Amino acid sequence: MCGIRGYIGDEDAPPLLYNGLKRMEYRGYDSAGIATISDAKMLVKKDTGKVTEINNKLDFLSMRGNIGIAHTRWATHGGVTRENAHPHASCGLEVAVIHNGIIENYRSLMENLMAEGHHFNSQTDSEIIAHLLEKHYKAYEDEKQAVLKTASDLKGSFAFLAIFTANPNMIIGARKDAPLVIGVGKQGNFLASDILAFIDYTDKVLFLDNREIAIVKGRDMQVYTFEGKPVEKEVTQVAWEAKDTSKEAFAHYTTKEIHEQPQTLKAALYQDPNKVQEFCSAIERAKHIHITACGTSYHVGLILRNLLARLAKIRSDATLSSEFSHDAELIERDCLVIAISQSGETADLLFAVSEAKKRGGEVLSILNAVGASLDRESKLSLYINCGPEIGVAATKSFTGQLILVYLLIFTLLNDTRRLADLRDIWKAVEEVLKMEDKVVEVAKKYKECNDFYFVGRSLHLPIALEGALKLKELAYNHAEGMAGGELKHGTLALIEEGTPVVVLNPEDETYQEMLSNASEMKARGAKIIGVSNRPHEIYDDFIQIPTVDELLYPLVEVVPLQMLAYHTAVLRQRDPDYPRNLAKSVTVK
Ligand code: M6R
Repeated sequence: MCGIRGYIGDEDAPPLLYNGLKRMEYRGYDSAGIATISDAKMLVKKDTGKVTEINNKLDFLSMRGNIGIAHTRWATHGGVTRENAHPHASCGLEVAVIHNGIIENYRSLMENLMAEGHHFNSQTDSEIIAHLLEKHYKAYEDEKQAVLKTASDLKGSFAFLAIFTANPNMIIGARKDAPLVIGVGKQGNFLASDILAFIDYTDKVLFLDNREIAIVKGRDMQVYTFEGKPVEKEVTQVAWEAKDTSKEAFAHYTTKEIHEQPQTLKAALYQDPNKVQEFCSAIERAKHIHITACGTSYHVGLILRNLLARLAKIRSDATLSSEFSHDAELIERDCLVIAISQSGETADLLFAVSEAKKRGGEVLSILNAVGASLDRESKLSLYINCGPEIGVAATKSFTGQLILVYLLIFTLLNDTRRLADLRDIWKAVEEVLKMEDKVVEVAKKYKECNDFYFVGRSLHLPIALEGALKLKELAYNHAEGMAGGELKHGTLALIEEGTPVVVLNPEDETYQEMLSNASEMKARGAKIIGVSNRPHEIYDDFIQIPTVDELLYPLVEVVPLQMLAYHTAVLRQRDPDYPRNLAKSVTVK
């Protein structure tokens, strides 16, 4: 959601902060700003709009200072206005703060502070932090105590950074239930919501844990728990590289990421066999398995549940993380939770995981972002190794998570033939990518249709849900994914002349039944867009995919749906990388 970033070092802070803001655009935002200290004076520039537009107006690069903080805001409390944009300053401009999260008790804190003479300039919950820091810094004359006291006053979730004119060589940060990482550079240190904000400058990272604060003075860095105990931190070198964050020759990150899938599928299979075995053993041992995730990652969870049941005869349930807490009373003490996530920072997911852990559950995860909060909460994580995913829509991370699900299932079953097929599946994905012209033709034909339906059965149902989600998210066409068998129970009433229906119908046990569903819809005027390895006269439009092992079709058939959503978005002049109202990483509940 909001993106935070700070820099302190030998270099000019504004260009580094400005580049960081552009890097964090993928997190979604509606306003942005920068604060620096130069000649012992705080300078704050902020406004609503896109980072480049704000820069054109305010010229961030004309700011001075070797220290600063920068923020992209995604409004939660208070409208999208200049006043509500971050950084927020204390009354006398002594402290500037940026914040990601939600402060639940801000009203009572604000009332107390106003009674003490503080005045507020915004309607946000975040501004409270600047005033609390100012107050406690004056009282204690010690930054560590000021931050600890401020953190203990706050209820809710937060990652914040602050700079002080009284100590222009220091940035402080604190985190509770929102991400904060430190990048250790040659010329200076970075603090940010995620590694992408500084990966162009350093790949050496120090991960703050929950309920920790960091005090960075020049090159010196100290970390403490909220109880004030010093913590020794290890610097980790991350595998992502600056080049991974470039668009290369592609028009958008989303299409670049769709086209990277043959490579990322191979990368996901580079796993330590012992870890894979350990994951499988935990599944075999478990008395109860709960799979949890959000959005696209949840669709992977549905396939995991299906395959565990069908092939390994292991019962599990798949629950949206945002619904998990409502079922929390049913979580057994000895359960295994499998959490699936690209970012490892999704707030609902982290909450679900912590609920399960409180009840004695063990957490294993499948994720992309090494060192993310989910990683640190998990007993064991398997990484999908797909590199940074910048487009808000999950594409390569979906197939990365999915191929790991197959790797686990086939390892569990000791199915060496299918393991070999899995290693070659990238070739089929490469073939599908060559169908892009056909997909563009379909996108052109149906782009203005108000309602799309995606229909599949069994393993294809989660792909139908995924195809619909991609189209809604990127192109803003209304779309619904549904089970073929459910059509007669209501949705058929909505099918009329010209309604586009994408039918996921490769040759497997669902093939004939899906053809029957397709003809029911066609009889009512639907335009049938068939995605299959086998042509059929019933299809008005046909996107051919290669023939693969029948269990592996989801990995292949999802790719044309990703391309369909992308091209429909482009044709409708949407920005596929940054869809309206959405953020890449949903770090608030
Ligand atoms: O980082 P996560 O996998 O935990 O994110 C979960 C969802 O927010 C995410 O998959 C979202 O649905 C995507 N934008 C869909 O393309």
